[in-house]
Amino acid sequence: MQALLGIDLGTTGIKAALFATDDGSVLADAFCEYPLYHPHPGWAEQDPAEWWQATLAAIRACLSRGEGQGVQPADVQGVGLSGQMHGVVLLDERQQVLRPCIIWADQRSEEQCRWITERVGASQLIEYVSNPALTGFSAPKLLWVRDNEPEVFARARTMLLPKDYIRYRLTGEMAQEISDAAGTCLLAVKHGVWSQEGLKALDLDPALLPPVVPADTASGRITAEVASLTGLATGTPVAGGGADNACGAVGNGVVAPGLALVSIGTSGIVLAHSEKPQVDTSGPIPRVHTFNHAVPHTWYLMGVTQGAGLSLRWVRDNIGLPERALERWTGIDAYEILAREAEGVPAGSDGLIFLPYMQGERTPHLDPYARGGWIGLTASHDRRHLVRSVLEGVAFSLKDCLSIIRAQGLQIDQMRATGGGAKSPLWQQIIADVLDTELVLTNASEGPAFGAALLAGVASGVYRSVAEACAQTVHVTQRTAPRPEVAASYAQAYETYQALYPALKPIISKK
Ligand code: XUL
Repeated sequence: MQALLGIDLGTTGIKAALFATDDGSVLADAFCEYPLYHPHPGWAEQDPAEWWQATLAAIRACLSRGEGQGVQPADVQGVGLSGQMHGVVLLDERQQVLRPCIIWADQRSEEQCRWITERVGASQLIEYVSNPALTGFSAPKLLWVRDNEPEVFARARTMLLPKDYIRYRLTGEMAQEISDAAGTCLLAVKHGVWSQEGLKALDLDPALLPPVVPADTASGRITAEVASLTGLATGTPVAGGGADNACGAVGNGVVAPGLALVSIGTSGIVLAHSEKPQVDTSGPIPRVHTFNHAVPHTWYLMGVTQGAGLSLRWVRDNIGLPERALERWTGIDAYEILAREAEGVPAGSDGLIFLPYMQGERTPHLDPYARGGWIGLTASHDRRHLVRSVLEGVAFSLKDCLSIIRAQGLQIDQMRATGGGAKSPLWQQIIADVLDTELVLTNASEGPAFGAALLAGVASGVYRSVAEACAQTVHVTQRTAPRPEVAASYAQAYETYQALYPALKPIISKK
């Protein structure tokens, strides 16, 4: 039986999953967690050594489960890598990691964003890299290290993105895959090469950046050492792979005009396929990103909600303690119990609104200092309202993203949902109602790991193209239609939601 291995280096942990090449069905999977560190408010770091140990463990566990299903290491045609975007991994001249990775959620680099914008010029920057400087992106983080840890920066010889660091450990090859490189703010997104003008303007040595490689071709092979550590066969090809959102899109077949993806992981995103590198012109600064897709010579527009699943997780861990206890007793997932309770509350949570800005906000406010919270509490609200309003607040934020993308003239005929949050039927219905658009689920139950595996299938010659891989393996499994009367009442609640940030900005957005 031929199989493909997809690996997704997420924010909470790493997933490895084996898929059958003929129909994309899941043969085995494994997930290993690692910690996220917040050494200061607004900072978010992870230890690449912990990623690596988790990667080895996840591959080993997945392969041994695969063997139980009759899959041998030699059956694995290729490995595809997906991962959280924008993190900065710095290596010294001996390829040793110099400091913890500053990950996508980290908000410390606002000063560097301002410096980049002044130094290059706001419109020139868009001309060079198709995006503004945002704290989420890699370049400001790299410059933060240069400004604040000059001794570390002086020793840095290579900057890698998270999954590209894992590629280096798996294959010995230094490369940055194109859809992930797009999120550095250093790639000429229109052309898919490093922006030499941008690098020069920022006084950055181009040698820090390894070559850009395509998503769907082989970028290296599993080394003998890794083979002995994981059970993979030596020489198995490793594809370029893609950023987690690009791989989520591939795995859900969002590879053609008219299709968009809604993903609810730690962050939430709305991503729409585009045939050109078009830039958001709805405001003075683009509020959605223009990145290269993992499908060659195409792009996508993407809006990001910084705290989507993160907000619900916070509720589970701080307000849902009884449900956590019940989970331990009954084995029923605490999220499921919380959702069942929240289902009893009417749409609109009786006027309670949640702002999901618990990690600052990207789209539409581009405000690293924004803070979240509930507005409109009364004595008649209870915990169920708190939960439901979080699901609704995240959906409102996703509507902010979708509205900006639609305003660019991109027609979106179908939204496909993915990510842990999208597994909740209640959240699916809320999103369909709030976006007033049909929401479709596909068989891509393993998230970005599936898209990464399909890219590995193209790289190893199993499929001729990404489009062919999707046509052969991705299909719609479920449809959730918006309910017109609920959509209308959410449209009103959304107006209130939209008015809250500008009204509260002086109070909820402070350094
Ligand atoms: C996208 C972004 C997040 C991460 C999370 O710009 O920052 O979606 O990729 O994994």
